[in-house]
Amino acid sequence: MDRHLSLSQAARLIGVKRGDIQKKIQENKLRVMEGTVVLSDLKKAFPDAIYEDNTMMEKMEKFMKDAVNKMAQSEREGAHVDALSRRLVRLNKELTEERNRADQFEEIIDGMKQKFMDLKINARNDNNFNEIRSWFNTAVHKVNEEKLTTPVENLENQIKQFMLPHVRLLPSRHDYISDKSETLLESALRSGLAVDYGCNNGKCGKCKAKLLSGSVEKTLHQDYVFSESEKSQGFILTCSNTAITDITLETEEAVCSDDIPLQTISTKIKKRQKVSDNVMVLTLKTPRSQRLRFLAGQHIELSVNSQDKEQQPIIAEYSIASCPCEPANLEFHIPINANEPFANLIRDELKTNQSLTIKGPHGSFVLNEDSPNSLIFIAWDTGFAPIKSLIEHAMSLEQAETIHLYWMTTKVENHYLDNLCRSWNDALDNFTYTRIMCEAKTDVVVDSLMKHIHDEHSHLLNFDLYIAAPGHLNHLLKPLLISHGIKAQNTHFESIFHGEEVKD
Ligand code: FES
Repeated sequence: MDRHLSLSQAARLIGVKRGDIQKKIQENKLRVMEGTVVLSDLKKAFPDAIYEDNTMMEKMEKFMKDAVNKMAQSEREGAHVDALSRRLVRLNKELTEERNRADQFEEIIDGMKQKFMDLKINARNDNNFNEIRSWFNTAVHKVNEEKLTTPVENLENQIKQFMLPHVRLLPSRHDYISDKSETLLESALRSGLAVDYGCNNGKCGKCKAKLLSGSVEKTLHQDYVFSESEKSQGFILTCSNTAITDITLETEEAVCSDDIPLQTISTKIKKRQKVSDNVMVLTLKTPRSQRLRFLAGQHIELSVNSQDKEQQPIIAEYSIASCPCEPANLEFHIPINANEPFANLIRDELKTNQSLTIKGPHGSFVLNEDSPNSLIFIAWDTGFAPIKSLIEHAMSLEQAETIHLYWMTTKVENHYLDNLCRSWNDALDNFTYTRIMCEAKTDVVVDSLMKHIHDEHSHLLNFDLYIAAPGHLNHLLKPLLISHGIKAQNTHFESIFHGEEVKD
């Protein structure tokens, strides 16, 4: 049997980027049929990649052959394929329960460790006690070591991923893998897709989509009632169903900021974390029934009611620093030394679980998802917030050939999430991070950045560029970047509201 694979599945299987597959298609070295490629064609187009991972391919083919044989046998015996899928869903649930049990045992072990510590003081010379303690430490150490993932487990995980249901969206032709432990909506959001939804709990009907092929299973209760016509057309709610076979859905996705409605949501403070002398990272939790829909790179209004009821609420606008694939937890980078009323409140008064209202989203500093170009991101100081959101979104789409981040500030400690950027740099083959420190003077900032860009990129013809910096810097940089080869329509600028000033 020759298997059809989506581009993402194919890329994952042979360990190349989606862009590499697209390149082969553009060069007519790989046939594409309705957005899928055939396994045998893929082998021919990437002989080395497959050769290197021969063992995995053989195991995969055997695994698929066995699965097909088993399915045929089951059908002969009268069992329906759907029944097998349901069995898988049940096994998945059992696995989750077992994991919860394991977590509880871990808590007990931690408690015992603490008890041993307390007892140690009184039983310093008791041989029996020391023997039990040493046995306990060795046993815990051994279990922890065995937790490390082995290559075999890695292989099994890859095979499992390959075998997970694959969801295709029309008309966008986007595709994603649906994890059976998640709803179709959760998997779509985790994959960075801006699908429509509202309550996230089966009430509003905003997430409805037409099932064109394949089978789904309802995993959560829904109150929304479909009309007879919707039922006959095969509409389902993505927030309460999961896929049990490969499926195709017809649904609308947001492609630009105009497609996202303005929302007002009451959130709670989940965390306030001081990450440098100047910056606090604020995380807000949205209610499960009211997640924020936004596009990476957008900003939002935050407001807090004053203790004094006579006073107006304190309002400020900040870029969202997290990815839309995490709509439950919204992250903001607040400069706390600027003596702004909202920042002072966050630094000095507000506590975890206090309420804060958000209104938005706003702004059109969003990723051009249709562009095949590599990406350059440039951030000045806390302009890193919208850039971080864009980078995380670009990573979840796995589309860009290369990503280069330039983060500019005046001193080392102002690169407040330097570790995160370095971890991207270390973990991802296609990601480069350049940290730039310079004086906060316009000509110095412009010269430093352009020098780095000239040294590292001979021209910017095939790049899309995203810059979050003070407005006057953006204005000066645009013609310089265009003279280095980038097309004007591929440049995107965001004037940052807060953060360190750059003076003339
Ligand atoms: S998001 Fe409201 S019903 Fe699914």
